[in-house]
Amino acid sequence: MAQIIDDLNWRYATKTFDPEKKVSKEDLEILLEALRLTPSSFGLQPWGFVVVETQEILDQLVPVSWNQQQVAQASQTFVLCRKESVDEAYVDSYIADLCQKRGMKVEDMSGFSQVIKNFLSKYSEESLINWMSDQIYIALGQLITVAATMKIDACPMEGFDSDAYDKILGLKEKGLRSVVVCPVGYRASDDKYATLTKIRWELDDVVVRI
Ligand SMILES: Cc1cc2nc3c(=O)[nH]c(=O)nc-3n(C[C@H](O)[C@H](O)[C@H](O)COP(=O)(O)O)c2cc1C
Repeated sequence: MAQIIDDLNWRYATKTFDPEKKVSKEDLEILLEALRLTPSSFGLQPWGFVVVETQEILDQLVPVSWNQQQVAQASQTFVLCRKESVDEAYVDSYIADLCQKRGMKVEDMSGFSQVIKNFLSKYSEESLINWMSDQIYIALGQLITVAATMKIDACPMEGFDSDAYDKILGLKEKGLRSVVVCPVGYRASDDKYATLTKIRWELDDVVVRI
């Protein structure tokens, strides 16, 4: 079987991390670069990626994570965030960055800029938040998959109090809101979840070939 499939079978939502084993600085940078390279709708990247590795703060996160200990046991806990808001000024800054990097004139991209602004203007505030969160889940998938190829364990987590995280981590002041959490590190040798049979529908149950 292809290596990537082996890796995806190897990974599991790790419940118990070995607190002694830390992700190296080099590997951490690879995970962050994988997050940065996540694709997003129009390329707008409405996100921020917070890495928490200060034990005192990780400990504060446990009670607001349904008491799930993995956030404090992990080597680092990633908090994948959306922007507080995405407005026209943000789109302008994105277009400016694109033009600078591709050696283009901002005027030449005014049509594209307007398409994005029109697209965003049709959303209610709630729908815009959902749209941003959708992008964050793409980043989550990328993080988990890349980590698996590096034999780094991870646990995607929605079981946490987003408002409490925002407060503890001072995210509002950074223009961010927590969407999903992902501790990373190395599985404890006694994590019984590591050997459970994977539960997935069979291929024919989920794939429609037309
Ligand atoms: C978006 C999302 C949120 C999840 N939230 C939690 C969580 O809060 N705590 C937890 O232990 N597992 C959580 N999981 C893990 C799932 O339960 C797990 O991925 C699923 O049962 C499949 O098992 P596997 O990942 O071990 O293959 C979450 C997974 C996803 C994708």
